[in-house]
Amino acid sequence: MKSVQLYKEHLQQFVSAEELANISEELLKAKETLVSGSGKGNDFLGWIDLPKEISPDIIDNIKKDVANLTPKARLFVVIGIGGSYLGARAVIEALQSEFASMEKGGHPFVIYAGHTLSEDYYHQLLRMLDNYDYAVAVISKSGTTTEPAVAFRIIKNHLEKKYGKANASERIIAITDAHRGALHTIAQQEGYHAYVIPDNVGGRFSVLTPVGLLPIAMAGYDIDKLLKGACDMRDICMNSNSVEDNPALMYAAIRNILYRKGRKVEILENFVPNLKYISEWWKQLYGESEGKEGKGILPHSLSFTTDLHSMGQYVQEGERLMFETVLSVAQPHDKVEIPSDAQNLDGINYLVGKSLTEINHNAELGTILAHVDGGVPVLRIKIPSVDEYVLGQLIYFFEFACGVSGYMLGVNPFDQPGVEAYKKNMFRLLGKPGYEK
Ligand code: PA5
Repeated sequence: MKSVQLYKEHLQQFVSAEELANISEELLKAKETLVSGSGKGNDFLGWIDLPKEISPDIIDNIKKDVANLTPKARLFVVIGIGGSYLGARAVIEALQSEFASMEKGGHPFVIYAGHTLSEDYYHQLLRMLDNYDYAVAVISKSGTTTEPAVAFRIIKNHLEKKYGKANASERIIAITDAHRGALHTIAQQEGYHAYVIPDNVGGRFSVLTPVGLLPIAMAGYDIDKLLKGACDMRDICMNSNSVEDNPALMYAAIRNILYRKGRKVEILENFVPNLKYISEWWKQLYGESEGKEGKGILPHSLSFTTDLHSMGQYVQEGERLMFETVLSVAQPHDKVEIPSDAQNLDGINYLVGKSLTEINHNAELGTILAHVDGGVPVLRIKIPSVDEYVLGQLIYFFEFACGVSGYMLGVNPFDQPGVEAYKKNMFRLLGKPGYEK
């Protein structure tokens, strides 16, 4: 079995075997709190068994929707914010070509809305939707979030003008709560095909529900393999209490040890740009789960080697407040050779015969060694290759570790009370009834 693995070979001078041993009792207690459902936020633990227990009917319906909409839609607009779009985007962008475009045939090209209130963004989006056939997934667990509600009203209006009301309804899929919320009411009234987000799964843990699975399948990727990867990682995370064999336990232990020693910032780094949105998803997962009660590691991300030429200086020599977690991809999908040049004016003939991945891996190792010398602890997550199975593993690994790590920090990892503060101010400023004070 190809497996995501954690390596701590560059941590020796920062985390001792004794520190790991000392924290193990607390670590296993946090795991037990999570698995037994005895901790804070225990009504939001449905994600733990999702990959194993998701109903085959849901998967069949998703596949039917993909088969039905693919011939009709060149674009698929995913409307959602936070946990209602980041997981899908993370997987799709990890798997698709950097140069994929809506011009290509086959599956619809997925684009995003409802994650911004920028007027120019919607103007540009509508002009594009004038020119291509499209369908829509509107995703909101609460069914009341302002950004996707605004986007959906604008896009629904465009869709109904373009195709007529009845035909437009057949191009809209709603993913929301089973009983509550404005989106639930609209979907029922308009007769949209709808999927339910389970009550016990919070937004940032919902990628393996239809929230993530429908857009990922619509983009042409294999959701069975994604779920299989998550299922296999679930077995590892649930069944092993050994820090050495359970990467989620190791990750939770190390980040808490480092945090308690003053490392308040974690930088998730990749050396392949397709993983940029994995970092965005991860930032939400950890930021919303841990950043509360005046506590929490600040999740940050960088893409290397690109950002070595912008942020590399700070990481090497700035304030020592961070540790790094490197997403290290072992195998590329394809080969690109560096051609030989008789004149060698650029002086890089010494690289001829090496693969770009070999060069990239040496850039990665060179960076890690430099940063360790500069006093930055570095953890490495090895990913065999970027495919659906491995991404399923990675998602589950990060989710499980997040639950354990949050309980070690002493917070409720499954709520997000702070997200409401800006909304109340915005509603009052905009004159929403009921928010006058
Ligand atoms: O993780 C969360 O719960 C949040 O980030 C939500 O996903 C986000 O606020 C969107 O909420 P909703 O799906 O209710 O529109």
